[in-house]
Amino acid sequence: MSINPALSNIGSEMSRLSGVRAIMKDIIETLRSSRDRTFINLSAGNPLILPEVEALWRNCTTELLASDEFGEVVGRYGASQGYQPLIDAVVEDFNQRYGLSLSDRNILITPGSQSLYFLAANAFGGYTPTGQLKQIVLPLSPDYTGYGGVTLVPEALVAYKPTLDVNQAAHRFKYRPDFSQLAVNEQTGCIIFSRPCNPTGNVLTDAEVNKIAAIAATYEVPVLVDSAYAPPFPALNFTEMTPIFGKNVLHCMSLSKAGLPGERIGIAIGDEKLIQVLESFQTNLCIHSSRYGQAIAAKAIASGALANLSKTVIRPFYQQKFHILEKTLDAAMPDVPWYLHQGEGAIFAWLWLDQLPITDWELYQEIKQVGVIVVPGSTFFPGLREEWRHKQQCLRISLTGSDTEIQQGMERLASVVKQVYSRSH
Ligand SMILES: Cc1ncc(COP(=O)(O)O)c(C=O)c1O
Repeated sequence: MSINPALSNIGSEMSRLSGVRAIMKDIIETLRSSRDRTFINLSAGNPLILPEVEALWRNCTTELLASDEFGEVVGRYGASQGYQPLIDAVVEDFNQRYGLSLSDRNILITPGSQSLYFLAANAFGGYTPTGQLKQIVLPLSPDYTGYGGVTLVPEALVAYKPTLDVNQAAHRFKYRPDFSQLAVNEQTGCIIFSRPCNPTGNVLTDAEVNKIAAIAATYEVPVLVDSAYAPPFPALNFTEMTPIFGKNVLHCMSLSKAGLPGERIGIAIGDEKLIQVLESFQTNLCIHSSRYGQAIAAKAIASGALANLSKTVIRPFYQQKFHILEKTLDAAMPDVPWYLHQGEGAIFAWLWLDQLPITDWELYQEIKQVGVIVVPGSTFFPGLREEWRHKQQCLRISLTGSDTEIQQGMERLASVVKQVYSRSH
């Protein structure tokens, strides 16, 4: 039996598989339909379970189970803003670490950071009572594919092409925000970018972030800095970076890459007024985030263990994977104009194949034929409507494989790239 209800505009928008989720469906089907063949799967956005990190969460859980707090945590509703011990732990940690003077009114806990972007995109972006369209601006495209699905008003999402710093001899490049194009004005509702960036591993410099925040401040526009990979946890930055705070900056964190994706914990830090707007929205949506996850997070943050493990275990683990990847590509890639994005953080590598004779989707299919799965890059340009060949010339490669998988995967990728370019001559 099946039912086919009429959908509202929002219903049909939200029931679409957007961006990378559509590719993930293809990947899951490929893996399912080829049981006799083992693939090197370098497509995952899911972090690996690192034993030391798992042990931390297990210990925090054991401590919670043994305490009087347990009944309160799972047996009662709480404040929408979040579980107080977690809010207190974040306030204390950030005040001490960064010399801030935050109070608990500056913090909001959400069920994962994806929901935080959904709340913000729809609270600050979309139509105003006078019918004006407020844009959700992504200042540097490519960026996190999940931003493609966060707005109830798709036409509100606007992304900007970057400029490219290319080191031809070294086969490396880096995206930079193009301030000559970036328009921030009365039509801007909010700005969002990830730092470090999924999919590229780019880290906007402190100066670039300060410049974006300053332009936005002129129009009282909130700037959401998606810090899902940033310090102090999970600290997946391989280059120096300072978290930037300010009146119109919402510093947004996630515990997903610090070993807790299943518990759905997002944390926003910012001005009390901005926090209040998002908090009310959250009350309407889901009341509050799971308190079990919040309670164990409070312990891991208050003890300092999470920040510590992030620096000593999580960061070196993925940094080492990136080294293997770049070393292998340097040795194996043919003489074509290939460029690896500077590996400044996150858990991905981003490869640009200039003058690629086929599309990224076709290349993805050919790489599958040699038993390797990566993600075609064109899904990582949400909000960028203009034609740009570059959008079909990139691949995202996940650093979640074993060392051998990464090495073999890159060798096979290099051989496919060689064939593809030589066919076109
Ligand atoms: C840049 C970025 N932002 C946000 C998210 C969403 O994370 P979560 O909702 O699990 O906190 C992800 C997940 O992959 C991400 O890569």
